[in-house]
Amino acid sequence: MALILGIESSCDETAAAVIDGNGADLAARIVAQRIASQDEAHRPYGGVVPEIAARAHVEVLAPMIEGVLADAGIGLDKVDAIAATAGPGLIGGVMVGLVTAKALAMAADKPLVAVNHLEGHALSPRLADPSLHYPYLLLLVSGGHCQILEVAGVGRYRRLATTIDDALGEAFDKTAKILGLGYPGGPAVERLAREGDPRAVPLPRPLVGSSEPHFSFAGLKSAVMRARQAGIHADADIAASFQQAALDCVVDRTRAALAAAAPQMTALVVAGGVAANAALRGALEALAAAYGLPLIAPPPKLCTDNAAMIGWAGAERFALGYTDPLDVAARPRWPLDANAAPVRGAGVKA
Ligand code: KG4
Ligand code: ZN
Repeated sequence: MALILGIESSCDETAAAVIDGNGADLAARIVAQRIASQDEAHRPYGGVVPEIAARAHVEVLAPMIEGVLADAGIGLDKVDAIAATAGPGLIGGVMVGLVTAKALAMAADKPLVAVNHLEGHALSPRLADPSLHYPYLLLLVSGGHCQILEVAGVGRYRRLATTIDDALGEAFDKTAKILGLGYPGGPAVERLAREGDPRAVPLPRPLVGSSEPHFSFAGLKSAVMRARQAGIHADADIAASFQQAALDCVVDRTRAALAAAAPQMTALVVAGGVAANAALRGALEALAAAYGLPLIAPPPKLCTDNAAMIGWAGAERFALGYTDPLDVAARPRWPLDANAAPVRGAGVKA
């Protein structure tokens, strides 16, 4: 038995889980999990306030870990390792989770596994679907990241594309803000889009058809802003047209990556918070089928931030003998592919 305690605190979700790395399927693998969203605390500010997030993690995390161990019916002495997100993310929150994990590892004399949050997302489809084998093509779409990666194994990532400005989830969140839908915005935009006409508002599709492999969403967001200010269109039509334009961009960019990489890949995989979007999943399913590949997407609850994916990534690492010393650093920036070249405009928030 490899029982892993997983801890996640890099953004606005505090989460803990007990994962059985030897479980045959999803139901057996997630022994217990708890998650506390801070949506209410951040809603008045229209986005995540790092200081508020860190304080909330401090209050919630320790009793949550006690609770999740109780749910699993075990004491800390029964876990084989403690895995925590060590970055990337909001540094205050990351430190709360990582220091808690270090303290538990020291007190119970257990190995520590420092997990890259993006690796948690990247491997979460394997937690959910035991039939998924390496290598696979991964579209990683969250609030902070928008990348296409070849996943050849644990720790073996090659970045093929990234965003030169906003992440896809960020584009959904900004559109939600423009439309007054509040925070968090992605699910609200998806709901409103169902009531609108995706062809009603002409919007740009940045970089579609370009030979450059990357993504760009800043121009689309500005166009949404202008469409709203024009006061001609219904909000539902703007939401539907935005979602269609964004998905057209994602499908086009992913098609370009598949055209080059598909023969070596076992599957097209989508993960990260925006992978919870049903329209995106539908569009990618059709695309994957065109290349003779299955689309693997975790259940929506495993797409948004959670500790099960951190525990699972910890279990995969632990099985390979990777553990980390107690002086391992928290890393607010931590790319999955350390060799990827910086791209024009990356990191510049529009
Ligand atoms: O992975 P995640 O929970 O946190 C990060 O690591 O960023 O992703 C959160 C992002 C947010 O931008 C949120 O608006 C977006 O995922 N999101 C969605 C949906 N559910 C979450 N975007 C579009 N449609 C959804 N259904
Ligand atoms: Zn995330």
